[in-house]
Amino acid sequence: MRLKGKKAIVTGGVSGIGEFTVREMVKEGASVLIADINDQLGEELAAELNGEETKVVFQHVDVSKETDIEAMVEKAEKEFGQLDIIFSNAGIGALSPSAELSYEDWQKVISINLDGVFLCAKHAIKAMQKTGGGSVVNCSSILGNVGQAQTAAYTAAKGGVTNLTRALAVEYAKENIRVNAVCPGYIDTPLLEQLDEEMRNQLISLHPIGRLGKPEEIAKAVVFLASEDASFVTGANLLVDGGYTAQ
Ligand SMILES: NC(=O)c1ccc[n+]([C@@H]2O[C@H](COP(=O)([O-])OP(=O)(O)OC[C@H]3O[C@@H](n4cnc5c(N)ncnc54)[C@H](O)[C@@H]3O)[C@@H](O)[C@H]2O)c1
Repeated sequence: MRLKGKKAIVTGGVSGIGEFTVREMVKEGASVLIADINDQLGEELAAELNGEETKVVFQHVDVSKETDIEAMVEKAEKEFGQLDIIFSNAGIGALSPSAELSYEDWQKVISINLDGVFLCAKHAIKAMQKTGGGSVVNCSSILGNVGQAQTAAYTAAKGGVTNLTRALAVEYAKENIRVNAVCPGYIDTPLLEQLDEEMRNQLISLHPIGRLGKPEEIAKAVVFLASEDASFVTGANLLVDGGYTAQ
């Protein structure tokens, strides 16, 4: 019960890495507000996990809208009394030759994958300041650390998340607010559905471990960063990538 009594928000919490993180956080004793644009799955997951000691609620949130994020933090404070943890995980994939990428598509990826992470941190930190501390965990990627063809907007956004994490960690360390990021390798989630079999096998071959990651393997890393086990960890970008970036 490493998160016993903690109050958390998970954005993009109904699918893939987010869903497994919600489940892991609840198992570890946290109450969780699931924030997502998918209302049906969100309501179903909240109904499945809501319990006596660990409350689980859903709120419709588009992380590219600051008003939605303000309402999300207010709802967490109202439901739980305080906010201790936020996992800013919502994100979309985007694959396109960079010279063909429209400015509109670039902006969409940046607004969800980077602006959304900043806005979540901004409002969550304000809530954490009221209670004397907290833990912000952002979802970056191996592509926040190394480049890859045909992913200009995604890689730029994740690179932004990686360094935003460091900037916020330095700024709020003295206020007992730790800010870290998890940097997954390729994880078997619905985000990879756009890949054909050949691309999938090619991606597997890039991981020395010889397989894609599982969402639960990222969820466990997020719980570690969010918990007191990581009390001296801030500004870290924790690679959980089967050795992808080690070669
Ligand atoms: N799957 C991978 O290989 C991989 C690798 C590295 C990093 N990541 C990152 O992990 C995070 C989760 O990805 P996943 O693989 O679980 O994907 P996923 O598609 O399974 O889940 C993403 C979730 O985000 C939600 N979402 C999308 N846009 C949103 C918005 N504007 N506001 C709120 N919610 C929104 C979706 O509804 C969905 O529930 C993303 O940030 C992604 O970039 C994934």
